[in-house]
Amino acid sequence: MNFFTKDTKSAFEAITNAQFIAFAPIVFQATKSLRDLGILAMVEESGVNGVTLEEVYTKLKLSEYGARVLLEAGLGIGLVIKNDEKYTITKTGLFILNDTMTRVNMDFTNDVCYEGMFTLTDSIKTGKPTGLKALGDWPTVYEGLSVMKQPAKDSWFNFDHYYSDGSFDQALAQLFKRKPKHILDIGGNTGKFTMKCLNYDADVKMTMLDLPGQLGMAKENIAKTPFSDRVNYHPINILDDAQRFPKGADAIWMSQFLDCFSEDEIVSILKRCHEAIAEDGNIYIMETFWDRQKFEPGAFSLQMTSLYFTNIANGNSQMYDSAVFNRLIDKAGFKVVEQIDNVGISHTIQVCKKK
Ligand SMILES: C[S@@+](CC[C@H](N)C(=O)[O-])C[C@H]1O[C@@H](n2cnc3c(N)ncnc32)[C@H](O)[C@@H]1O
Repeated sequence: MNFFTKDTKSAFEAITNAQFIAFAPIVFQATKSLRDLGILAMVEESGVNGVTLEEVYTKLKLSEYGARVLLEAGLGIGLVIKNDEKYTITKTGLFILNDTMTRVNMDFTNDVCYEGMFTLTDSIKTGKPTGLKALGDWPTVYEGLSVMKQPAKDSWFNFDHYYSDGSFDQALAQLFKRKPKHILDIGGNTGKFTMKCLNYDADVKMTMLDLPGQLGMAKENIAKTPFSDRVNYHPINILDDAQRFPKGADAIWMSQFLDCFSEDEIVSILKRCHEAIAEDGNIYIMETFWDRQKFEPGAFSLQMTSLYFTNIANGNSQMYDSAVFNRLIDKAGFKVVEQIDNVGISHTIQVCKKK
């Protein structure tokens, strides 16, 4: 992956890009308004014939002025084009309107990150998630997840689940290749993966570890399945080094979990995994590493998501470069025995054993 080794833009492209950045918050909000007011959908429905400004503001009951400034912004942003006074949609407009990943990312950016990000520089200086107060008064976002107001709550879970759900089926096949009998799902969240494991293998036992609020949601979900008797719940604040993990499992699964922590915290968690796991057990780490992406937009999305951790989530974690992770795995006494890239949209699974 060498997307970031050369400055490939001409001076003209560079100054154009600089203006896109200078106006980025306005570009974002204008795009969201075009989407949410139904303007993009109306332009799309008009197909190749296109639609006039008057048709848009009349049908959508907007002022002429309001529809005009948004559509003109849409021209500059590249969401629509205009010929003979008629607007038609571009490919970018189509993605904004219809692509699930783009919608999930935009809603997450708007509902979870947008307001807080105004204080990003303070977060960098203090190491604190200074933007989190826009959502609630919690030490980290994780204590707030089960009680967060809408639409932030749905946008957070949709973002989290969109990426992990897309990788779970491939992940199951990898995990059950070595026929585990008892799996700790650390950071198991609402129980989605635990339920998939219980459904995949009729004998496997699961123990979920997470904050009490999340385990409450998981319990409620799992109670509706026929698998409840094969699950244990272990409430934990993993940031407290003194809180150890239940012993004896032959596999530990951590999906999109370790990225929620700083380097020192990751080593502490992995050391506790070392203490808990059976001697020949396997640790499965599923992460989105920006350096392992096939495509530049994938790496870009992860680099931007890092700043959500900086400003909103906890102030000290990120979407890591895999080289950093490998160093931490080694420090905690594990070696990577297998690495599977391109799982789902953007994940890598690292299978680790005790050294
Ligand atoms: C990004 S979510 C990943 C959820 C799930 N594994 C997945 O792949 O979708 C991170 C999880 O880590 C949990 N978590 C964060 N901080 C924690 C802490 N201090 N102690 C225990 N769990 C924590 C959160 O509650 C959340 O369920």
